[in-house]
Amino acid sequence: MTFKPAPWPRKLRSQHWYGGTSRDAIYHRGWMKNQGYPHDLFDGRPVIGILDTWSDLTPCNGHLRELAEKVKAGIWEAGGFPVEVPVFSASENTFRPTAMMFRNLAAMAVEEAMRGQPIDGAVLLVGCDKTTPSLLMAAASTDLPSIVVTGGPMLNGYFRGERVGSGTHLWKFSEAVKAGEMTQDAFLEAEASMSRSTGTCNTMGTASTMASMAEALGMALSGNAAIPAVDSRRRVLAQMSGRRIVQMVKDDLKPSDIMTKVAFENAIRTNAAIGGSTNAVIHLLAIAGRVGVDLTLDDWDRAGRDVPTIVNLMPSGKYLMEEFFYAGGLPVVLKRLGEAGMLHRGALTVSGGAIWDEVRDVVNWNEDVILPAEKALAASGGIVVLRGNLAPRGAVLKPSAATPALMQHRGRAVVFEDIDDYKARIEDEALDIDETCVMVLKNCGPKGYPGMAEVGNMGLPPKVLRRGITDMVRISDARMSGTAYGTVVLHTAPEAAAGGPLAVVRDGDMIELDVAGRRLHLDVSDAELERRLASWTPSHERPESGYAWLHQAHVEGADTGADLDFLKGCRGSPVGKDSH
Ligand code: FES
Repeated sequence: MTFKPAPWPRKLRSQHWYGGTSRDAIYHRGWMKNQGYPHDLFDGRPVIGILDTWSDLTPCNGHLRELAEKVKAGIWEAGGFPVEVPVFSASENTFRPTAMMFRNLAAMAVEEAMRGQPIDGAVLLVGCDKTTPSLLMAAASTDLPSIVVTGGPMLNGYFRGERVGSGTHLWKFSEAVKAGEMTQDAFLEAEASMSRSTGTCNTMGTASTMASMAEALGMALSGNAAIPAVDSRRRVLAQMSGRRIVQMVKDDLKPSDIMTKVAFENAIRTNAAIGGSTNAVIHLLAIAGRVGVDLTLDDWDRAGRDVPTIVNLMPSGKYLMEEFFYAGGLPVVLKRLGEAGMLHRGALTVSGGAIWDEVRDVVNWNEDVILPAEKALAASGGIVVLRGNLAPRGAVLKPSAATPALMQHRGRAVVFEDIDDYKARIEDEALDIDETCVMVLKNCGPKGYPGMAEVGNMGLPPKVLRRGITDMVRISDARMSGTAYGTVVLHTAPEAAAGGPLAVVRDGDMIELDVAGRRLHLDVSDAELERRLASWTPSHERPESGYAWLHQAHVEGADTGADLDFLKGCRGSPVGKDSH
């Protein structure tokens, strides 16, 4: 960690709009003054954009405008000038065909909102799954000083005396309904029990994972990830972040100073320790691609290997985010990694200091929530990267969410050409399938769906569920919700719609999964595989215009983060020409 603060005072980029007495300056200031801002606010103090992903249709972020008021208070206190800017909000539970298709659109829109307007630094007010990576990608591409404030998780859900987690129990209960073990009325009753306060999913799903990633990367104040949305300490943290960003601008502490290779390695190890979402793989690869860090899929396997999963939260474990917070939250996990030699202790954070200095003195208040290493949920909890003739560019599996007995498995493929084919046939009692089979789903990758939907954890056939079977090996080019679980091979690359080997798997082919050996193999000869690939023709729809066309034409594979090829890299934040 070698960060040297820039000299202060100096001229900031916002002064290119607001400084001086030119016609342009009066034009820019004058219109702002219609909101009642006094003249001295334009005197060269840091202008901080509060980039707010609030939306009524992003319910997980529905409380962010209240939080924005606390951020503003902190910015005012530190001598900055806060401006709240609503930005594209890619809601996980609303957007069709999938929010993931709009992560890059949001990142592009937010990047231009940052660069094209008179702000010197940003508070990224995020929460729901895609909002966190999209704004981090934008901040990385502009490299303006930025700090993440997440909305925090919902309170614990309880249904008939049992703890229920967002998403995780939705999958469980829907399987129970299919198996005839739960009534539809009870399912409806459970619905309200899962979402009893504002906030993001209360499991270690993608939202909580990405909040943890932001903290482990050093892009949020220590402790940010786990504070419940409705806890008063969440509002305190928002205010403190407002204060902090003003100093970050004065010091010129930028994302590229913080999000270095070692920071990404810290985040990868953290993801293993918390049993985090496989979606973090794609998002961190994309963020790294924006900030210019050479991060690969193999870094995930290498850095995460041998890191035990010690956070006992659903979907891998038992508890929810509220209990994680009471136990001490992410700082305890980072401390444990540091003690085990698995943390780059000197990595810089938004605090301006080393990550280790923020966590070295924290205490674990509940060893059933943050487990001792000998009681880890998985001894090696890092994301596994599989390769083989079925996934030449890689596929991923989350061991802490998988069934140990299935991690070495050979089975007969039952193939679904796309999600519609799966939905049409999965409940057919005549479907030739049993628990030894391998379910294969095609055309759900970044180009194929389009957008790479969270359908990789496809539900099991009812006739298998009724026999008490709860897991089977499933393989696809899709993603999986961070709240989901199972022996599920995801992100298979190249994807089927791009002509990857997944496209030519046929019913009855034998497939071998060997997690320990990192191998995913389609048991056909090289010559046969080549023959099939040579005669393959694309079957997915190709949009002819609009953003869907842009996405499909330019989206890259899951193995490099599924960003749009022309958006990769850091373009900085030049002030550009004036238009008046
Ligand atoms: Fe928005 Fe889970 S769906 S946080």
